[in-house]
Amino acid sequence: MFSEKLLMRLKHAVSLCALTGAGISAESGVPTFRGKDGLWEKHRVEDLATFSALKKDPELFWKFYGWRRKLLKDVQPNLGHYALVDIERMYEDFTLITQNVDNLHHLAGNRKVLEIHGNIMRTRCSECGTVIDDPNDYSGVLPKCEKCSGLQRPDVVLFGENLDEKLLRKAQESSAGCEIFFSIGTSAVVEPAASLPYLAKANGAYIVEINAEETPLSSHADETIIGQAGKILPQLVMTIERIR
Ligand code: OAD
Repeated sequence: MFSEKLLMRLKHAVSLCALTGAGISAESGVPTFRGKDGLWEKHRVEDLATFSALKKDPELFWKFYGWRRKLLKDVQPNLGHYALVDIERMYEDFTLITQNVDNLHHLAGNRKVLEIHGNIMRTRCSECGTVIDDPNDYSGVLPKCEKCSGLQRPDVVLFGENLDEKLLRKAQESSAGCEIFFSIGTSAVVEPAASLPYLAKANGAYIVEINAEETPLSSHADETIIGQAGKILPQLVMTIERIR
């Protein structure tokens, strides 16, 4: 399943980077964005997950985010998430960059995680910016800030918003500095995350894609392994254990 070239790289590498997307959480039961799961009660997710949707119809906006939080309450990390915890233990320098807001990498036990799209289990005031840990699903109530009474929102990047500059810079630095870059369970189309594998490649990294289907990245990656992350990643861990 893994090429000789990759095995050699894995054997000697010091610095690894992985970018994950919704696909890694699919086996935990979290819906992905694109494809047949990309709708919520007949609304396009792209129309709901915006700041203007919060302003226009905060009840609908929070109904959507409340539903997503409720869904995550019973969700556990899967073997793919745990494999990335093992990989973090095996390498001196491993950076996990995730587009997911579901908190599952933290729950699994990864310590160095760059959540470039935020974390849905935090709430941020849209007025004063105060951030709190908050898994509440707010059915029927609109959350207001305790400090300034401003309307609150989940601490995630909404469509049309910029990413946190510091986090993005760290993600770019790690991508540019790693020897092997994994793109896992992501359609690899949403910027700026989609550019990270190209940045890694331009700086000499070996690019490995692990995904259920081919993506626009596939023809640029050094190898693409088609399949479920929850099956392939544990095999990758066993392989690394054998060769190092
Ligand atoms: P997508 O829903 O676009 O893509 C998920 C990818 O995972 C698809 O290519 C699937 O084929 C693949 N996949 C599904 N199940 C899998 C499995 N078990 N193992 C491996 N791969 C699997 O999700 P993302 O690429 O994460 O941003 O989407 C990127 C961003 O788009 C999200 O973070 C979100 C959205 O707009 C924001 O909300 C800011």
